Amino acid sequence: MAPHCRYSCDTAAQTLEWISAINDFLRPYMFLLNDHVVNFFKDRLWESIDKQWMNCLRKESVENLLKIPSGIVQDNWPASLKEFILTSRSLVLPREQVELQMMLPNLHVASLDTVLTQGMNMKKKHEVETLAAVVRSIAESTGSQTIIDVGAGQGYLAQVLSFQYNLSVVAIDASSHHGAVTSARAERIKKHYAAKTKNAHLNVPQTVTCCVMSSDALKAFSDALLQKNDFEPLEMKEIDLGEPYLEGLEVERKKPSLCSNSNMGPSLVLAGLHACGDLSVTMLRTFIECKEIKAVVSIGCCYNLLSEEGSQNSGSQCGFPVSEGAKLSGLSLGKSARDLACQSAERWRSLTKDAALQNFELHAFRAAFQMVLNRYYPEILTTSPSIGRQGKALRRQQQRRVLQNNLHVDKRTSLPLVATWEKCEMERSCTTSNYSEAYQGAYSCC
Ligand SMILES: C[S@@+](CC[C@H](N)C(=O)[O-])C[C@H]1O[C@@H](n2cnc3c(N)ncnc32)[C@H](O)[C@@H]1O
Repeated sequence: MAPHCRYSCDTAAQTLEWISAINDFLRPYMFLLNDHVVNFFKDRLWESIDKQWMNCLRKESVENLLKIPSGIVQDNWPASLKEFILTSRSLVLPREQVELQMMLPNLHVASLDTVLTQGMNMKKKHEVETLAAVVRSIAESTGSQTIIDVGAGQGYLAQVLSFQYNLSVVAIDASSHHGAVTSARAERIKKHYAAKTKNAHLNVPQTVTCCVMSSDALKAFSDALLQKNDFEPLEMKEIDLGEPYLEGLEVERKKPSLCSNSNMGPSLVLAGLHACGDLSVTMLRTFIECKEIKAVVSIGCCYNLLSEEGSQNSGSQCGFPVSEGAKLSGLSLGKSARDLACQSAERWRSLTKDAALQNFELHAFRAAFQMVLNRYYPEILTTSPSIGRQGKALRRQQQRRVLQNNLHVDKRTSLPLVATWEKCEMERSCTTSNYSEAYQGAYSCC
């Protein structure tokens, strides 16, 4: 039986106690956390693992190995191994699914038609269907008129919120390519519904291309949006974000901030589906700092992309840790630990034996390849910062080129506000360093 969690976040003191227990537990194993799994052979990591544990686990069935992250141990295992697994499990944040209908009594999940779901796989359809209904329910209960879809990608969520739930939506994404696809897709959907319903005044999400690098930038954007009485399309010049955009939009705002002292008037909801790395943290910070933002609904992802104090990608506002308590406790993770955080223990448990063996093999081959690189091509290891498949990134580049050659964007509806970002670090890292993508059976992400 998996152990019950004995910690809670009910009070600040209890939360700090939990953080401190995690810190104490991790400290002796930092050498493992700080080393990437691809270096398992190269750095002879197994040599630092308890011999008894290794002997026992070597003979264990695949099925039982897959249950370890869920805190399920076998009677014949060494006591120290059982204690390690049970303690680690007792420190994990609970991830049980809550009954949505109990939390949001006015929730009604509409089944989406094939026009809105075109291009989505089953997983995306399920996520968008449910999240859109949650956002609508929260917008209704908080009396919010406008939704900002942060990291909107191709606008799947934004389009459902607009066309299915008739909400005013602004879809922000750092990638101009995604912005163009979102606008073109929304136009197609609009045409279809306009012809079907004979209604020419359908809500279409506004598409905005900008790289949100700080809560100040998102606040400035929300301010500008709220100052529009009738929600006309925004022009870039109306949002005084200063120069240059490519440096995170972190500039003084010259307009008086609406995000300060008013409890009345227009309000917003921030929504994000798979808002990568720091983006989810920026949304939380903006929510805390801006009264007019009544709610934040965010599904985070790509924890490996979180910036951390002292890490290469850290800016003025780091994504981790977001809490002062965690900062004071001295808890630091590092890139490899954040990569590990993308693994989903829940999905290990439901993997079939064949899929699990294939994943184990992939890990072993990749680690063996790392040894070859290390011995014969050491310069590749030092000059190439990304671990993993480049194929997806290359495919996207090719698709982008084809789209750019073929796409004719309607100027009336697309990209009313463009802060070109093509060099934005985020997209590059999203597409090239997702090592864990290779292990799809166990990896929980976008
Ligand atoms: C994993 S995708 C999710 C897309 C979409 N929400 C979905 O679920 O289909 C994350 C998106 O966030 C965008 N993004 C990442 N960091 C960003 C930032 N700092 N500012 C704006 N967009 C960002 C990326 O360009 C990408 O399209």
